[in-house]
Amino acid sequence: MTDIRRPDDMVRITTPELAQAFIDEQISAIRAQVGDRKVLLALSGGVDSSVVAALLIKAIGQNLVCVHVNHGLLRKGEPEQVIQVFRDEMKANLIYVDAVDRFLDKLAGVADPEQKRHIIGEEFIDVFAEEARKLEGVDFLAQGTIWPDILESEAGIKAHHNAGGLPEDIASRFELVEPVRILFKDEVRVVGRLLGLPANMVDRQPFPGPGLGVRCPGAITRDRLEAVRESDAILREEFEKNGLAGKVWQYFTVVPDFKSTGVKDGKRTFDWPCIIRAINTTDVMEVTVEHLPDELIDHLVKRIIAEVPGINRVLYDYTPKPPATVEYE
Ligand code: XMP
Repeated sequence: MTDIRRPDDMVRITTPELAQAFIDEQISAIRAQVGDRKVLLALSGGVDSSVVAALLIKAIGQNLVCVHVNHGLLRKGEPEQVIQVFRDEMKANLIYVDAVDRFLDKLAGVADPEQKRHIIGEEFIDVFAEEARKLEGVDFLAQGTIWPDILESEAGIKAHHNAGGLPEDIASRFELVEPVRILFKDEVRVVGRLLGLPANMVDRQPFPGPGLGVRCPGAITRDRLEAVRESDAILREEFEKNGLAGKVWQYFTVVPDFKSTGVKDGKRTFDWPCIIRAINTTDVMEVTVEHLPDELIDHLVKRIIAEVPGINRVLYDYTPKPPATVEYE
């Protein structure tokens, strides 16, 4: 691991000029560290790993090997966007792993939230390690570690997503490359913008590691997961259209595992409800609810009922944190 520390007097990267200076400096540092050897990166399509990928592509081109694992719990269009941006546009060396069946088969019938998280985390490491073992001549592992991850792991709050999760035979093979480790999240976004990443990738709302899995409470089924994914896509589209996407801190839908009676075209239905949650916060410890205009709620109800199979009711969650958490599991 490089032992760069964030200098106390480091200027906050707030402008394209400062971001350009940072990018130039990191490209030289990466080239000096890596030379003509290869670097492996787990590319989720989240802000941090995407910015690391874009930086490394600039620095070492085809010597970066990106692995994108589709675990089936990503939002609508995300795997496609990773392929389009990194493989088609930036010409990156990208391995796409379709692990959807593998994850959903392992999760079938598992209702306990912590067990679900555990399975998703373990399976991810297994899939990534399998890909890493297939590759030869790769000596470095790049990670999207950022400065708050370092601070939190130093304070003992959480272990940041590091090579520690990987099996020993893999972890010991690699030296780490962490080009954004001295940046805060807002700085990573400024750098990402200048590297040409799309706005919806750089300005993304927070998204949990276990993905839509925690928004499909109880045992995940493919049909209910699809209802979460489709309703989430409609909510995101409407937030974009109504200028709320950059303003509301986090917004998503949840489809709980119970059904209620409804009526459609004169016939009885027995389907799931879809819950909308939209919240604001600064520190995630305390959260307030975004109050949406009535017309937008009406419109969302109509669209979700009309477009998402299996939904016959739409509810809005008005509960702050505490007492509720942001996610449902
Ligand atoms: P809660 O539900 O704890 O959520 O109030 C607070 C913030 O953390 C996110 N979250 C997670 N992020 N893995 C993650 O990477 C997780 O297991 C996880 N659970 C919650 C949540 O989306 C919210 O932003």
